Amino acid sequence: MTVAYAPGKVILFGEHAVVYGQPAVAVPVTQVQARATVETSPEGQGITIIAENLKQSYSLEQAPPDDALRAIVVSTLEHIGVGTKHDLTITISSTIPIARGLGSGAAVSTAIVRALGRHLGHPLSSQAISNLVYETEKIHHGTPSGIDNTVIAFEKPVYFIRDRKIEIFSVKSPLLLVIADTGIASPTRIAVTHVRQAWEREREKYEELFDEIGTVAEMGRQAIERGETETVGRLMNENHRLLRLLCVSSPELEGLVEAAREGGALGAKLSGAGRGGNIIALVTQETRSRVELMLRLAGAKGVVVSEVG
Ligand code: PMV
Repeated sequence: MTVAYAPGKVILFGEHAVVYGQPAVAVPVTQVQARATVETSPEGQGITIIAENLKQSYSLEQAPPDDALRAIVVSTLEHIGVGTKHDLTITISSTIPIARGLGSGAAVSTAIVRALGRHLGHPLSSQAISNLVYETEKIHHGTPSGIDNTVIAFEKPVYFIRDRKIEIFSVKSPLLLVIADTGIASPTRIAVTHVRQAWEREREKYEELFDEIGTVAEMGRQAIERGETETVGRLMNENHRLLRLLCVSSPELEGLVEAAREGGALGAKLSGAGRGGNIIALVTQETRSRVELMLRLAGAKGVVVSEVG
């Protein structure tokens, strides 16, 4: 049996604007993960996919062509050049909440590609994995920027600009993040579509906001590389203000962002597509417990602490 894992991720700076060519900064979150196992099945059984969290089990042949798990299995086998005539059982499980901006779809796909590649004696590079996962992200997201598959396949902090070579960068002083869940599922495709419609109506206004977000992301990367943690926090607050102007916040996200700041966070913002999903708060060892408590009191459904760098 072959086992492979992939982490979740959060976007520190630049979501939404990244779809329009601006830079964004994302980091892996290893406290949550997707797991895929591949086992050889008895001859003639074909490929079976077991999605444990969804309590589903089906054969590759039965799955509709737009099934994201089927798509990643087929494209991986085609990439390796071995076709789909195999007898395999692929089992997937994940501790990453679905549709909360933590990259669950990309992580599940990444774990599958890794496990299949290794099982068939054909391990794939991070770039090859990222490219394959990007294709299935289109099923989940419509017009993904590519940031999720990149940060998850490389498992490193990334400075990402659409259609450019990725830049992996170093974190001078580790960042302590509290990630808190509104408990509200928010499909990325819907939030991205709403932003697109708003941009089509008022191009100038939205392009200015995208530019401002891009500047914040660039400054954010520099602050992280220099270890200027307080500046990172301030820039997170500024990024959140701009995301509100894009209309992707929600009362629940606002409640959690406020609670984190009241608890003493250096900065807090929604992370990912918005409307629901998670907020991230930058804390210190001293403020960490108070911020966690404030977030729980404000109704956070799940709180994860992650150290980056
Ligand atoms: O998958 P999420 O919720 O982290 O959102 C991805 C970030 C967006 O910028 C909103 C979309 C994209 O494709 O980059």
